[in-house]
Amino acid sequence: MNDVIVVASGKGGTGKSTVCVGLAVALVKQNKRVLLIDCDCGMRGIDLMLDVEEEILFDCSDVICGNCKPRDAVYPSRNLNELHLMAAPFDTDNEISPSVFKQMVDELKSDYDYVIIDSPAGIGSGFATAAAPAESALIVTNAEPTSLRGAVKIRTKLKSLNIDDIRLVINRFDRKQFEQNACYEDLDDVIDVVGVRLIALVPYDGRLSAMFQNGFAGLNWSPAVTVFDCLAKRVSGINVPLAYTG
Ligand SMILES: Nc1ncnc2c1ncn2[C@@H]1O[C@H](COP(=O)(O)OP(=O)(O)OP(=O)(O)O)[C@@H](O)[C@H]1O
Ligand SMILES: [Mg+2]
Repeated sequence: MNDVIVVASGKGGTGKSTVCVGLAVALVKQNKRVLLIDCDCGMRGIDLMLDVEEEILFDCSDVICGNCKPRDAVYPSRNLNELHLMAAPFDTDNEISPSVFKQMVDELKSDYDYVIIDSPAGIGSGFATAAAPAESALIVTNAEPTSLRGAVKIRTKLKSLNIDDIRLVINRFDRKQFEQNACYEDLDDVIDVVGVRLIALVPYDGRLSAMFQNGFAGLNWSPAVTVFDCLAKRVSGINVPLAYTG
């Protein structure tokens, strides 16, 4: 995939921020330089997941307002110094213009192998800003109809922005629940609804929230972390099979 990746879903709570952090950590483990930009203005969370909330003096809106230079608003994560974060503003009603945001990312991207942008939920202006600098996209969905509707809408939006390099991440998958729901025959049905190639299937993994809600405390093994390691390889163009097939 290309180097500036937006992670979006349409529907809220599908696991975008979790996938962003999981992928970013896995890419750093593979010696890539990664900048993670939280674009969820007013609802930021990645500073908490990386345990740097006390350190954030400047965020991306400060860069855009001219209060600081882009590199002054970039912070290394506590447990993984090579992973850098630019936070979203904590509370703001100011919309960030897509073209200004793109300009800022364009200025920073040569410092990194990958820039990963965490989009807010929805298909409105927040998403348009997050997607503006992107060359590729990951759509994160859960295997259920409400989530897939959002995924289809976001795919259409991405295409209208001329972002064609799109892959699907099905997150929080639980085979038993999937079969009980009986909404789809199998996972191929889910993929067909979105019409985007699958790049990762992430299992429901109770350890993830403990790990990410307390400031990502290390590179502990867990089923989802194994999938993120595989996702990072696939994003980098290494042709490995899916780590988990459900
Ligand atoms: N694979 C998973 N297994 C178990 N829990 C998960 C998984 N992925 C995400 N979660 C949990 O689901 C919740 C929502 O995840 P997350 O905040 O990443 O979603 P989001 O799409 O970024 O939400 P929002 O739209 O509000 O930004 C969190 O509590 C997170 O820990
Ligand atoms: Mg989020």
